[in-house]
Amino acid sequence: MTDFKYKICCMGAGYVGGPTMAIIAKNAPHIKVTVVDLNQTQIDKWNGDKLPIYEPGLDEIVKAARGKNLFFTTEIDKSIEEADMVFVSVNTPTKTNGIGAGRASNIKNCELCARTIAKVSKSSKIVVEKSTVPVRTAHAMNRVLNANTKDTGISFQILSNPEFLAEGTAVKDLMEPSRVLIGGNQDAGGLAAIQALVDVYANWVPHERILTTNLWSSELSKLVANAFLAQRISSINSISALTEKTGADVSEVANAIGMDPRIGAKFLQSSVGFGGSCFQKDILNLVYLCESFNLPEVAEYWQQVVTMNEYQKTRFATNMIKKMFNTVTGKRICVYGFAFKKDTGDVRETASGTIIKIMLDEAAKCAVWDPQVEREEMLTEFKYTHGIEHSNTPRLDDLVVTETDPYAAAKGAHAIAVMTEWDEFKTYDYQKIYDSMVKPAFIFDGRNILDHEALRKIGFEVYAIGKTVSENDPMTC
Ligand code: UDX
Ligand code: ADP
Repeated sequence: MTDFKYKICCMGAGYVGGPTMAIIAKNAPHIKVTVVDLNQTQIDKWNGDKLPIYEPGLDEIVKAARGKNLFFTTEIDKSIEEADMVFVSVNTPTKTNGIGAGRASNIKNCELCARTIAKVSKSSKIVVEKSTVPVRTAHAMNRVLNANTKDTGISFQILSNPEFLAEGTAVKDLMEPSRVLIGGNQDAGGLAAIQALVDVYANWVPHERILTTNLWSSELSKLVANAFLAQRISSINSISALTEKTGADVSEVANAIGMDPRIGAKFLQSSVGFGGSCFQKDILNLVYLCESFNLPEVAEYWQQVVTMNEYQKTRFATNMIKKMFNTVTGKRICVYGFAFKKDTGDVRETASGTIIKIMLDEAAKCAVWDPQVEREEMLTEFKYTHGIEHSNTPRLDDLVVTETDPYAAAKGAHAIAVMTEWDEFKTYDYQKIYDSMVKPAFIFDGRNILDHEALRKIGFEVYAIGKTVSENDPMTC
């Protein structure tokens, strides 16, 4: 196609790149949007019938724009070359070795993108950093990009445009963002680049919601936003440990404090622990950054949000074992949910994985049911986050089975652990489930979504986060 006046290329067709570009394509039909990836399978899925990620509403949007102004390809060089603006939306996993291992993000993919862009570009471009990155990554990318452009007449402007979408609500978050943040250099070239990106978003986002800042504020804001959100969850989870001891109810406390508009009601849902690809990673990044600037007290303050999350997961699993007569050895544990939250098939850093790991360490058998998660994804998460794989756990396929329906998963189980807040978990026939389980039949509701009284009437022994069975029988952990 030659009649597009503006062309965007996005490097990385993942959870962020795919949906973000689909929404740009939908709202700016005059812009040609090409999403590229090194991974051919991923691109084939974006071009196929079943998209590689599940997001409510995304399917229709992609299929309506695909082949018109939205394209998915592995022709990386060509797509960059023809683009006016290149988004970098690649994964930046936590480093597993070397300096900052376990905390700092590895930005090698970003650097690689910068090198590719520098190599193939025959004209000046705006490069937009979309991946969540450590502060000052733009600076590093800028140096790589502009290192070899002397005497070529080509220049690159780098912008930071962090993504605030949450999985499961990506389409809504992108269509009606609370804000779009664009950071750039404050010189004439930088301001012009900022304006070019403002013009892209202005196709559907009201101007007052588009914020522009300097590069570092934009990069840091992403880490800080996630740290604050995660902090709320860890705060209410810390209180759940206390309410279990005292006979108070964490949901009532959350409701009571959330009605104060200064506190607000959102992100106060106590749970088995937060997961996802962002929260832990971004906080650890923040911690590492603080340490690098010799701010140990600040680092420790934020580290505690992650520590509390680990505690919550371990506490939940320990409580399960305790309630089941101090042993789960050989017992079948039915796990409802492996996704890190509802309405997504994403399993990265899911609390469900930690609970299953602890159950496996205790020689239990797990039967997992999740409406969206594929077994392969689960095994990948076991391997990368918990180091569990067939080579070191030869009976893995026997110890963790995946079922294709909730009733099969519960059959013969001693307990059900609710790990994800999928709405459909509330709609099952729990009498039928109860009848098929070993007695006493336990339910451990790690999301506080089920009707506990109704379940108790059926005969289940129910334990939930931050709740006591009765004031005389506090759930001791
Ligand atoms: C998060 C941020 O919300 C988003 O702005 C950013 O761009 C990426 O990181 P995401 O990881 O998709 O998004 O999910 P989010 O909805 O924030 O939930 C994260 C985790 O916290 C999930 O495991 C969720 O179940 C848990 N959670 C959330 C709670 O346990 N309680 C709550 O009240 C809210
Ligand atoms: P995110 O949640 O940040 O979107 P994902 O892991 O879902 O992260 O997606 C990142 C995508 O980026 C992957 O599909 C990966 O193959 C792709 N990718 C990584 N490095 C490059 C690169 N140098 N060029 C193009 N794509 C890349």
